[in-house]
Amino acid sequence: YPSNPKMGDGSILERTNCRAKGGAPGFKVAILGAAGGIGQPLAMLMKMNPLVSVLHLYDVVNAPGVTADISHMDTGAVVRGFLGQSQLEGALTGMDLVIIPAGIPRKPGMTRDDLFKINAGIVRTLCEGIAKCCPNAIVNLISNPVNSTVPIAAEVFKKAGTYDPKKLLGVTSLDVVRANTFVAEVLGLDPREVEVPVVGGHAGVTILPLLSQVKPPCSFTQEETEYLTKRIQDGGTEVVEAKKGAGSATLSMAYAAVKFADACLKGLRGDASVVACAFVASQVTELPFFASKVRLGRTGAEEVYQLGPLNEYERIGLEKAKKELAESIQKGISFIRN
Ligand code: NAD
Ligand code: LMR
Repeated sequence: YPSNPKMGDGSILERTNCRAKGGAPGFKVAILGAAGGIGQPLAMLMKMNPLVSVLHLYDVVNAPGVTADISHMDTGAVVRGFLGQSQLEGALTGMDLVIIPAGIPRKPGMTRDDLFKINAGIVRTLCEGIAKCCPNAIVNLISNPVNSTVPIAAEVFKKAGTYDPKKLLGVTSLDVVRANTFVAEVLGLDPREVEVPVVGGHAGVTILPLLSQVKPPCSFTQEETEYLTKRIQDGGTEVVEAKKGAGSATLSMAYAAVKFADACLKGLRGDASVVACAFVASQVTELPFFASKVRLGRTGAEEVYQLGPLNEYERIGLEKAKKELAESIQKGISFIRN
C-alpha cells in the first residue's frame, strides 16, 4: 500500500477509514503541530486510541517523518501526513476533532503571555483553515497563552460565521492532572483515585484548584492548601525551569491532551455523563470565557457547570484570577478585532 495515500485515491486504506477495527464507529482526528514536543507523543497516543479511525498529522516541518514512524504502529487508525500551509486544507477536511499544539513554548524567565506575539498569528491561521474546511469539528486548543488563544479562535470563527461556542475548548487538563498528582502525594493516595476540579484559566494565578471540592472528600491545613495551590499554579514553570531552555511540558501534556480528547470523543459517541474541566465560553462568571467542569456530548460542551460552594481562600483566589483573565481575554479579542 502507499505509505501516505492521498484523500480520495480509492486505495484500500481509504476505504477502511469510516470504521475503526471491530466495527466500532471511529472518528477523524487532526493534530496541528504534530511534529513538535507535544505533537509527537500526542500523535502516538492518539494512534493507540480505539475511537480514532483516521489520524491526520500536520506541521510546517517534519510531518512526513513523524507520519511514517507512527503509521507503522499496528493499531486501527489510518495515519496521513500533511506538510506546510498548502496542505492544511487536506489535513482538515472531514475532521471531527482538531487538536492544536502548534506554536512556540516558554523558556525560563518567560510568562505564557510572552508567547502571544508569535502564537496568536499561528492560531489565527490554523483557525481560519478550520472555519473553511471543517467548521463543525470540535477544537481542542493547547497553544499558549490559552487564556488569549481561545478568544482569538472564537473571534476568527465569528468573523467566518462558523462560531459554535460549544465546540471550542481550551485544554486545561494538565492542570487537573497535576492537581490530582500533587494532592494524592499529600494525602498518601493513588492519584487515580483523586479528582480535583481546577477552574479559571491556564496561567499563574488564573489556575484555581478547588481543594475544598476534592474527591474523595478530605480536608487540608492552611499550610497544605497554600503549598498545593502554589505548586499547581506553578507546575508549568517547574517543568520549564527543569528543562533549562529545552522547552516546556510535553510528555505530561500529551498524556493530559489525550485524556481530554478521549473525553471529547466519548461525548461525540453519545456516552452519558462525560465531564472534564476546560476553558470555554461561559456564563459562570461575568467573563466571556472561564475554565470549569463541562459535560461533553454529541455537540461538544453541552453543559457548563457552576463552580459550587467556595471557601474564603478560593473566593480570594477567584477575584485575583478574574482580574488577570479579563486582560488576557481582551488581548485575544483585540488581536482579531483591531
Ligand atoms: P514545540 O516547539 O516542540 O512544537 C511546536 C510545533 O508547532 C513545532 O513542530 C512547529 O513546527 C509547529 N508549528 C509552528 N508553527 C506552526 C504552524 N503555523 N502550523 C503548524 N504547526 C506549526 O512546542 P511544544 O512543546 O510542543 O508546545 C507547543 C505549544 O503548546 C506551546 O505554545 C506551549 O506553550 C503549549 N503548551 C500548552 C499546554 C497547556 O496546558 N495548554 C501545556 C504545554 C505546552
Ligand atoms: C504548562 O502548564 O506546562 C504549559 O502551559 C507550558 C508552560 O509554558 O508552562
